[in-house]
Order: sequence, then C-alpha cells, then structure tokens
Amino acid sequence: MKQFMLDEFKKVFGGKDGVKVYFAPGRVNLIGEHTDYNGGHVFPCALTIGTYAAVRVRNDRELNLYSSNFESMGIIKTSLDDLKPYPEADWTNYPKGVMWAFEERGMKLPSGMDIVFYGDIPAGSGLSSSASIEVLTGFILRESFGFKAENKDLALIGQFSENNFNGCNCGIMDQFASAMGKKDNAIFLDTATLNFEYAPIKLEGAKIVVTNSLVKHSLVTSAYNDRRNESAGALKALQTVIDCKTLGDLTEEEFEAHKDAITDEIQRKRGKHAVYENQRTIKAVAALKAKDLETFGKLMNASHVSLRDDYETSCEECDILAETAWTIPGVIGSRITGGGFGGCTVSIVKDEAVETFKETLSKVYLEKVGKTPEFYVVEIGDGPRAL
Ligand code: GLA
Repeated sequence: MKQFMLDEFKKVFGGKDGVKVYFAPGRVNLIGEHTDYNGGHVFPCALTIGTYAAVRVRNDRELNLYSSNFESMGIIKTSLDDLKPYPEADWTNYPKGVMWAFEERGMKLPSGMDIVFYGDIPAGSGLSSSASIEVLTGFILRESFGFKAENKDLALIGQFSENNFNGCNCGIMDQFASAMGKKDNAIFLDTATLNFEYAPIKLEGAKIVVTNSLVKHSLVTSAYNDRRNESAGALKALQTVIDCKTLGDLTEEEFEAHKDAITDEIQRKRGKHAVYENQRTIKAVAALKAKDLETFGKLMNASHVSLRDDYETSCEECDILAETAWTIPGVIGSRITGGGFGGCTVSIVKDEAVETFKETLSKVYLEKVGKTPEFYVVEIGDGPRAL
C-alpha cells in the first residue's frame, strides 16, 4: 500500500521527496448502538481496512487535496486562510474540519500541505470512512507539526469537527475506535467517562462477517440528529422523577418504574432502547469474558430487534439480512451496525457456516431486494500509524 500511495502522489503532484504515508482504520461496532451520545457503553473494534494518505508539507499556506477514490473531482484547492465548510468542497470538508478544529484548540497550522487520500472502506457502508479520515488527518497534523495530542485527543478533535464543521451531531464511538484500535481486540468504552478496556476477541471457530446491504437511505444526518434529540427529550422527562445524568445511568428496572414520566410515545421508545442497549452491551462483554458466545449472539439479535422496533434506525433491507441470518444454523448473532438507515449488518458466524451464510443471504436478498449483498470477513486491526 505504501508504494501505491507514493505512486499516486507522484502521479498527482510530482516527486516523492519528503512524502510520508499514513493510515487510520475504519471500525465495526459489535454491540452498543446509539448509546454513545446517551452516556452508555459501546463495543466497537478497529478494522484492517481504512483510509491512507500520502502527504508533503508545503512552504506556503495552500492546501491541495486529492482522493484516488474520486479521481474525477481532481485536486480540490483551498488554503489555511479559508478553513470553512462549503458544499462544493465535498469530501474535503472532513480533513478541512479537522484542520479547523486544531486551530480552534490553539494549534495553529504553520504551513499548507499536498495530500493524496485513498480509502478501502466500501463507500456508504457505515464502517466509518469519515471517522477514519478525521483521525487520519489529526494524526498527520500531529506527526507533521509536532503538536501535543494523544490518540484520545485525536478522537475528540475528530468528533468536534464532525459536530461543528460538518453538521452531524455524532457521538465519540467511531473516532475513538479508529484512534484507539488494537489488533484482535474490541474496545469496551464507557462514553460517559471515556474510561475503556480492551477485550481480546478470540473467536475460536467463528468469524466476524460484515454484510453490506448496498443501500443508504436519504436524510441520514437529519434522521440521526432527530434520534439524538428524541433521546435527550426522554432523558429530560425522566429527570423530573429520577436523579440521573444520562440514560446510561439507568437500569432496565429503573426505566420501567419511571417510564410513564415520558409522555411522548416516540421519546419513550427511544429512551427504552438507549437504556436497554447499554445494559445489553455490559452483559455482552461479561458473556464474552466468560467465553459464552451464545449469550453474546443472543444479545446481538436483541440489539437488532430494539433498533428495528424502538429506535427505528434499521431499514427493510437490513432487517431482511439480519432476520435471514438468524435462521441459518451456525450463525451466533446478527444485527445492523453503525448509525443505520442502510449500511451493513455484523454477524458472528461459525467457520463451517460461512459459505452457507453467504449463499443463503445472497439468494434471499436477490429475491426480495433485487441486489446481491457484499460480504467482508473482517479482521480487527491497530489504530493510526505511519507506514
Ligand atoms: C454513528 C455515529 C456514532 C454512533 C453510531 C450509532 O456511527 O457516528 O457516534 O452514534 O452512529 O451507534
């Protein structure tokens, strides 16, 4: 990959001298969905796929950004004196947002850069290509200019830029998973405190299979922001009857005892998901530690049902993928992963069932949706690095 990136850089900008190559991973979330902005737990892992960049620091304030994924857009030119989002700036609003966020934190960028990006995360799949480009940009700025920022800070800066520059009110999960990734480990993160622990994923005789529905429904950002507001509404109503800072503070029993305080039916469903999903995530990690993969899988399935019925961030296509998966012997668990409204499911499938899994899902999906889904047997990789 390093050679490919250097060649791409030479083709686009000329020369290889002083060019450095970097990588930051995408992520898949095993369980704990839409809990990260509700003070709950998440359990994602970084992948071996992600975004690469070949970078050369300039002597002036120009920024020349190019993506080998969007060749036809050519070099998108801007400067450190114009770190503002523009719709026509398209994907470059992500790296620019991180540059802006560094400056907002007092880390003024001394000079511009020429950068070629390339990502091997399938577009629109919900495997966090945007978080990987944010963390990658932060990593590049730190390495190029010597800023003092830990990987955790790169995650927070990435989230800050996405919230305030790119207009998606996302939580911390995706950037944290990318910045803090560790090979063969998932990250059990308490989003209320950012305390976390690594949990080794040793799936003896089973694989993590990501299935891409190849659909992305419209208005994803606004629907996501709506969910966030609806859960905030549920919390506010509960706070009139019980002392809690976030929905992640509550047990299922506490929720049931006080849920009538949430008079809005939609908000009540959103609140229920946030509380139960957080508890499921805690139970799932305990099950994994006890080597009880079966319970882990059941909790994944319950997570899907809750996202489908209460949080309403699944979609017909992902329901077909998960529900079909549940019927296949050897499938331990299957659920929609990520923000939702399309994207991917994540499944844990026994080695000997992987082929049947792919065949059955392909057949059913083709019949019902008219498309063949894509499958990726994923590996858990490390966080950002120089190559
Ligand atoms: C998106 C967001 C995350 C998280 C998930 C849902 O991926 O970026 O912060 O909220 O959706 O779990």
